[in-house]
Amino acid sequence: MIKPDGVRRGLTPEILARIARKGYRVVGLKQMTISRQTAETHYGEHKERPFFGELVEFITGGPVVAIALEGEGAIAGWRAMMGATNPANAAPGTIRADFATTTGENVTHGSDSAESAERELGLFFAAGELLD
Ligand code: TYD
Ligand code: MG
Repeated sequence: MIKPDGVRRGLTPEILARIARKGYRVVGLKQMTISRQTAETHYGEHKERPFFGELVEFITGGPVVAIALEGEGAIAGWRAMMGATNPANAAPGTIRADFATTTGENVTHGSDSAESAERELGLFFAAGELLD
């Protein structure tokens, strides 16, 4: 997902270009505004964390681009392309190192496991919205 800061800053084409260059197949793509309820479900694992309220405010605060990727090792590979959660710790050349300065607004999200990918794809896409 391209988060609201990335969309607002016009980074969508740059990020899609990186995905294309890597070779992942985009099987679903849409710009959308996330409801509070969807945001709270999406980030449910963090609901007891002190940053949860701000995180939900941020992710619902403007349109995001939801992207369904397909490819060998795409879950770990996309997380590697994003870099560490805190941009200060992200390796040079990663999206978060190249385009972000703060953990709170770190441009992209990526599912962290097959289980979370399945859950999150179900939250953001209806069955007919994904290519076979
Ligand atoms: P997390 O799932 O730990 O990171 P990632 O996005 O790399 O999977 O956290 C989710 C988001 O919550 C993270 O991208 C930014 C925000 N966040 C904070 O604002 N402060 C924090 O201390 C952490 C750990 C995360
Ligand atoms: Mg996470």
